[in-house]
Formats: sequence, C-alpha cells, structure tokens
Amino acid sequence: MCGIVGYVGPKVATPLLLDGLKRLEYRGYDSAGVAIMNGAGVKTVKEAGKIAKLESLLALTPVEGTTGIAHTRWATHGPPNQVNAHPHMSQDGTIAVVHNGIIENATVLKQMLEGRGYVFTSDTDTEVLAHLIEECFDGNLEDAVLEALWQVEGTYGIAVISSVDSHKIVAARKGSPLLLGLGDKENFIASDVSAILSHTRQVIYLEDGEMAVLDEAGYRVIDMNAVEIQKKVAHIDWDLAQIERGGYAHFMLKEIFEQPQTVENTMRGRLLDDEGTSKLGGLNLSDEELLSFTNIVITACGTSWHSALIGEHMLEELARIPVEVEYASEFRYRNPVVDSKTLCIVISQSGETADTLAAMREAKRRGARTLGLVNVVGSTIAREADGGIYLHAGPEIGVASTKAFTSQVVALLLFTLKLGRLRGALSQQRGSEIIAGMRALPGQIRQVLERAQEIEDIAEEYKRASNFLYLGRGYNFPVALEGALKLKEISYIHAEGYPAAEMKHGPIALIDEMMPVVFIAPHDSVFEKITSNVHEVKARKGRVIAVTSRDESALDGMLDYEFRIPETIDLLMPVLASVPLQLLAYYVAVKRGANVDQPRNLAKSVTVE
Ligand code: F6R
Repeated sequence: MCGIVGYVGPKVATPLLLDGLKRLEYRGYDSAGVAIMNGAGVKTVKEAGKIAKLESLLALTPVEGTTGIAHTRWATHGPPNQVNAHPHMSQDGTIAVVHNGIIENATVLKQMLEGRGYVFTSDTDTEVLAHLIEECFDGNLEDAVLEALWQVEGTYGIAVISSVDSHKIVAARKGSPLLLGLGDKENFIASDVSAILSHTRQVIYLEDGEMAVLDEAGYRVIDMNAVEIQKKVAHIDWDLAQIERGGYAHFMLKEIFEQPQTVENTMRGRLLDDEGTSKLGGLNLSDEELLSFTNIVITACGTSWHSALIGEHMLEELARIPVEVEYASEFRYRNPVVDSKTLCIVISQSGETADTLAAMREAKRRGARTLGLVNVVGSTIAREADGGIYLHAGPEIGVASTKAFTSQVVALLLFTLKLGRLRGALSQQRGSEIIAGMRALPGQIRQVLERAQEIEDIAEEYKRASNFLYLGRGYNFPVALEGALKLKEISYIHAEGYPAAEMKHGPIALIDEMMPVVFIAPHDSVFEKITSNVHEVKARKGRVIAVTSRDESALDGMLDYEFRIPETIDLLMPVLASVPLQLLAYYVAVKRGANVDQPRNLAKSVTVE
C-alpha cells in the first residue's frame, strides 16, 4: 500500500528518498512526491504516475536539502493525480505531511478547519492533518503533532517536517506500519524496511500509539502522553540482493524460481524425521496448552486465505481437530464462536494486512491464543501474536504472492505434524512418510521449473482468452482458487476457481470452445472423480489444460495441453501444482504486455481496511 520514507542527516536527501521510493514502489504506486527542507523553507515536488516521472521532474527542478520526507501513494480518498499526491502542506507552507492510513473523522475536522479559514486544495484526508498540525503549532513540532493526533480518529503512519522547527522528522503510528532506521549521524523513517536497507540494518519498530522524533544526532520515542519509551533495536538479516531482481525480468519470476530454496528454508532445522514430527521454537505454547484447544480458527486474506484452506484440510485429516477458515475482513463483523479453548492461526506474508491484524486482535479479545504464520520478521502481526512460525521465505516484492504461498503451506504442514503427533491422531510412521515427501519437495519444484518453457508455450496459445476456469478437488480445490487469483490479478483476464464437481451447479453453462479450463488433476485419492469432470467439460467443447502427475489412460484424448508434475503424497500436491499455475499466470500476463510486478490497482501490503 502507500509507502513512506524520510531522511535526516548530513547528505543531500533527494537521491536517498528517491532510492527509498523505488524500493517501496511495489507497495502502491499511483503517484509520489517528496518534501525537502532547504534554506528557503519546505519545498515539495510531486507527480502522478510512476516514481520515474517524479525522478524526471526532480532532475529538471532539483531540490537541495538534507532533511526530507517522501511518499508513494495508493489512492483511498480522491483520484490518483498530482494534487492528491503526498506530501501535503499546511496552509502557511511551513509543514509537510506524508500519511498512510485513513482519517475517519476527516469530514468533521475539515469543516472545523474551514470554519477557521483554512482552504483545502486536495480531496485527501491527509490535507486535514497538515492544516490541523499548523493549527496546533506553537514553535515545537512534536507538541503540535501530538495535539493534532489527539483529535484524529482512524489509522495513520505519518512523517512530518516543518521549516520553523527544522532539521527533525516527527513520525507517529496507529494502525499503519512505521520503523526507524538508525545510521551513523543520520536517521531514517520508513513504512517498510526495504526502503532503508541499503543504508542501515539497525531498526526500531514503532508500536501503535507511539511517536518518534528524529534528528541527525539521534532519536526519541514517546507515547501519546509525551512519556519517553525505551525501545529495543532490532537487526535486519535480509541482504540487499534479496530485494533486487538479480537478472530476472520481474520480481515475480525471480520469486517463483526461488521456491526450491524458500521451501527448504521454511523446513530447515524443523523436521524430526525419525519421530515423524516437527520442532517449532516460536510457538510459545507448552504441549499441555496445545492439547487444551478444542478447535482452530484460521484467518487470512487473499492468497494467504487459500493456504489456510489447505491447512484446514491437513489439520482435520492428520490432527483430527475441528478447523474453521475465516476471511479476516469478515471475521470481526460476525459474532464468531471463539474463546480460550480456540487457537487462532493468523496467516500473513506481510504481517501488516489491516483486516488480518484486526481479526487477530478480535480473536485475542475473545480469549483465543494466537499464532502468526508470517514472512516479514518484526511485522505487526508477528509482534502481536502470542507465538508464531516464521516462513523464512525472504522478502517477497512481487505484488502477486508466490513463494510465500508455498512456504505457508509447508509451515501449516509443520504445525499439523506437531499437533497431529501430540494428539495421537498421527502415527510416527505416517509422520515420517510425510517428512520424506517434504524433503523431496525442493528437488521436485526444481524439476517443474526446469520445464517452464512448456508452460510458456501454453501461455502463448491462450493469451487472448477472455475467461478461464480453474477446477480442482480436495487438497487441490484451494490451488484452483489460487491459480485463478494469480491469473486475474496480473493479466486482468477474468478467472474463477471452483471445486470441480460444483461446476455442474452453474459454471458449466459458461463452457464452450472459447473457454480454457485448467484442471488440477494429479494422481491422488480424488483423481477418478475429477476425471469425470474433465469428460463433462470436453463433452461441451471446453479447452482442457491439465496439471497431472502420471500417464493416465482415463484422460486419453481429453486434454488439449498437459503439464506433468512429479508424484508426491496428496497433501503436498498443492505445493507442486501451484508452481505451473504461477508460471502460467506470469507468462500470459507478460505476453499481454501487463506490468507483472506492478499490476493496476493492487498493492503489496493492504494496510487499510
Ligand atoms: C495475491 C496477494 C494477496 C495477499 C493478501 C494478503 O497474490 O498477494 O491476495 O495474499 O493481500 O496479504 P498478506 O499475506 O500480506 O496478509
């Protein structure tokens, strides 16, 4: 979603801010801007469109200065144009604000400020903040920001500079991620660590209700009552190469090809082969506590929700515990049956998705223990969950989630092994067989990737299709959902995923010779059932693309295209089957000329509800 970066130190700020913005561009990118403090006051330069356009503008009108804030926007209030781009200025032109989040009482505050003579020039809720801080300003920027924030309802991650109380950045957080980067006689503020990783690895995560004041010499963190807080400095292990494309045309392609390694990393040191179980250091739950749960609720959004569906299947099969999967965005608007006997598993690549975070907090309020399956170390969900399993997939920059999905499935299986063995529902022998299957996965994913060209050929054939159907059963029904989501989000082709047998109850009406239908049909316990569904599609002249795992006479003459994945046990099929579907979406999108890493309207981390 929107990205923030700020710098205070001895260097010229603009190139540092532009570099940070480029690294944040994947989060949201309909417009961008910078505000730099120079001798003459605060100067803003902003532009609609990509960061490259802002960069060109700054090349024409360079701004000198060593303190600045910058923003890349994903529109919530008002269209993505130059006027609505951040930073927003106070009426007197002395204060600049960048903001992620939504000010819920913006209308009321705006009326109040208009009554006092403030004139609004943009459609954004952020401009309210800029004028409100001016209204509260009495020579000290942090006091003014504090006073303004007391009047604000909603969510925010903000960074503010002023030409009157200069050479400092004031930042505050409520519901939108922010961190401080600590350098040598220079300091940074950012919404995402990737923006500052080339300058420092020492960071401090702000919590909700905290405010930071940074200057060249150091930083202070205070709460909303201006009481100073001692914060822990965290060290980031990710290296810079991980957030660069490394020779691949797109981050998405790089991340698809990283999966042998990322799946390995998710499992590393956690498998106990002989005991048929796993070792998970971060659960913060004793075996007795794990045994005390009567049910599990898994909550997530998007791709993470798809992995949750696979987790439900695994946990019910192997650990024999009732599991509900909930869209995080719906969870707290119902009255879910969740109490102290419930374990709530929260899945999020970013660890910052606003709906998922809110669902986790709701589950906690109702007494549940929470477990975060998160990729981004130190993210809000990771910090607030009672325990967790890190995915260790490394930074995922491509907006379409790929490697995080396969790692989520593996992490869910690790937890299932642990719980299944503890509850006595899973035998040591079956546990060990599953682990043997898991150990083979990285090599098998590699085999799939080596044949990427076959998928590219299929993509060439179907790149002009207007609709796609994805069908799967059992463990592969969520894979069908995920395959369809990948295709629609990056190629803009309408695609739907369905449980294969449900097709007869409606979607079959769509099938004709123009409709490609992707079947996920490996040799598993429901293979025979899905064969009938393939026949039903073929009988209606549908075009069948099948992901299979062996030569099947039952499919003779039925398939327009076939992609063979290696054999594995049923519950690991989703990991192998999702890889060709990721590639299919990727190649179709590239062949249609779509910007795969920056699909329209989408943002990597959805930090507004
Ligand atoms: C799709 C995709 C999204 C995310 C969803 C949740 O490719 O990336 O659907 O899965 O926004 O994000 P996280 O996992 O960060 O909570």
